[in-house]
Amino acid sequence: MDERVLSPSPRAIARAAEVVRRGGLVAFPTETVYGLGADARDPRAVARIFAVKGRPSDHPLIVHVGSADAMEEWALDVPVLAHTFAARFWPGPLTLVLRRAEGVLDEVTGGQHTVGLRVPSHPVALALIRASGCALAAPSANRFGRVSPTTAAHVRDDLGDDVDLILDGGPCEVGVESTIVDLSGREPAILRPGGVPREALEAVAGTAIPVRATGVRASGTLESHYAPRARLRVVEPASLAPTLASLRAAGTRVEVVAAEAATLYAAMRDADRLGAEVILVASPTEAGLGLAVADRLTRAARASGEDPGVRPA
Ligand code: TXA
Ligand code: MG
Repeated sequence: MDERVLSPSPRAIARAAEVVRRGGLVAFPTETVYGLGADARDPRAVARIFAVKGRPSDHPLIVHVGSADAMEEWALDVPVLAHTFAARFWPGPLTLVLRRAEGVLDEVTGGQHTVGLRVPSHPVALALIRASGCALAAPSANRFGRVSPTTAAHVRDDLGDDVDLILDGGPCEVGVESTIVDLSGREPAILRPGGVPREALEAVAGTAIPVRATGVRASGTLESHYAPRARLRVVEPASLAPTLASLRAAGTRVEVVAAEAATLYAAMRDADRLGAEVILVASPTEAGLGLAVADRLTRAARASGEDPGVRPA
């Protein structure tokens, strides 16, 4: 057994909480993907996250808190819509970008005037927050630019001994990252499609919410991100079978991956492990979680050098 990977018994959670309080790094499951967490009030611990991920230090981190009450502690001028979204979607896969309160570390916000907040719904994440008494600054627990981890084994493969402890909560249910909504400006905007569908947000808000590319340094929104090693090719569903046949006829090692949020990242990792040269995916419709899946596929395709121009019919 790997002594850094613990199943989340009460004892293991107490031990992980102690690691966090002492400035260490704990990888923990959330309903979206695994996070690499540290005490969000400890600048040295937060700096270690960036070092381990290999991520530029001006990219902000999401702060994971135990309940919506923490908004008052971390943010200023919290708009009504933030409370409405929090009441409806927290705990859950939604990150709210709000004006930051005084004293929130520059290391966490990337020096910006906003902070991203989220209450995860995974019981192990909530237990770790509660037991440590800390808010957890946590990006996805992968190396910069790679596919997010959805199992403890993915975290171990990516980060090895650079993480102090990994809590193994099994595979993540949602499988893509949280939806990020910017509520710090005049109009709400989706900065990253994710686990809460755009339609659900719009139904609660009673208005359309545009998906906006931001001026903010958000690594998840870089042009090429979420990259497998193989080239990723997205085709219309009707073209899947003929494309597969012609690639195989040419002797190319191909793996077909389903455009399903819950299994997408694990399937990309498996395809890489099997030595695929090309990963082939039928484009999803952009409803529900399909919007987030289409977003990640587009970025992954571009990162792998393919033309991501395919749109669902
Ligand atoms: O589901 C998730 O959101 C996962 C789990 C672990 O909670 N976390 C995650 O973190 O995906 P990360 O760091 O890999 O991606 C978070 C994205 C980054 O692109 C970051 O730049 C952006 O959120 N972000 C964080 N704070 C922000 C802010 N104040 N303004 C704009 N973007 C922000
Ligand atoms: Mg990430």
